[in-house]
Amino acid sequence: MTFSFDQFVIEARAAVVTEKPTQAIRLLIQKALEIKETLVTKNPLEKNADEIMLFEDDTVSVWICRFDPYNVVPPHEHKMNAFIGVFQGKEKHHFFKNDANGLQYKSTQIIEAGQMTSIGTDGLHAVVAEGQEDCYSLHIYTGPLSKVKRSLFDWDTGQALEFTDMNFQRLKRSPNELELS
Ligand SMILES: [Fe+2]
Repeated sequence: MTFSFDQFVIEARAAVVTEKPTQAIRLLIQKALEIKETLVTKNPLEKNADEIMLFEDDTVSVWICRFDPYNVVPPHEHKMNAFIGVFQGKEKHHFFKNDANGLQYKSTQIIEAGQMTSIGTDGLHAVVAEGQEDCYSLHIYTGPLSKVKRSLFDWDTGQALEFTDMNFQRLKRSPNELELS
């Protein structure tokens, strides 16, 4: 089967405006993951780049993201549905909820190459690669991710902070610094 990221974007744009976008997006990602080796070969992400936005309009955003095993991306929200399909390595997600008691750890999920997960509009997660290798994944969001005001969350207090590079760098953690319970 031939695959191109351009075609994937076209199909993602179509999927998100169908009557059942969740099913359509999941199917699209599953189909792409069946040929995950091809995605590895054609991955347009430059070495050591963290992410590339393939497309964004008001209905959908499509990204390729890389996570490494040494830096945990701090707890953050998306404010829209997120669908994530891992095509290389293993991606570890720590899920949280935020309430009056601060940031509450809920669960951890490891997504292996060929698998996918989805996160609802109110989901909060922190992400790192599992194992020794970087991981790479396809991300589809049901809205204009880069245009929406989103927050990062302080690990200790749960305080919502503006999603700036400074806050991002400040809240980044090494996996062995995490106290999840
Ligand atoms: Fe995320």
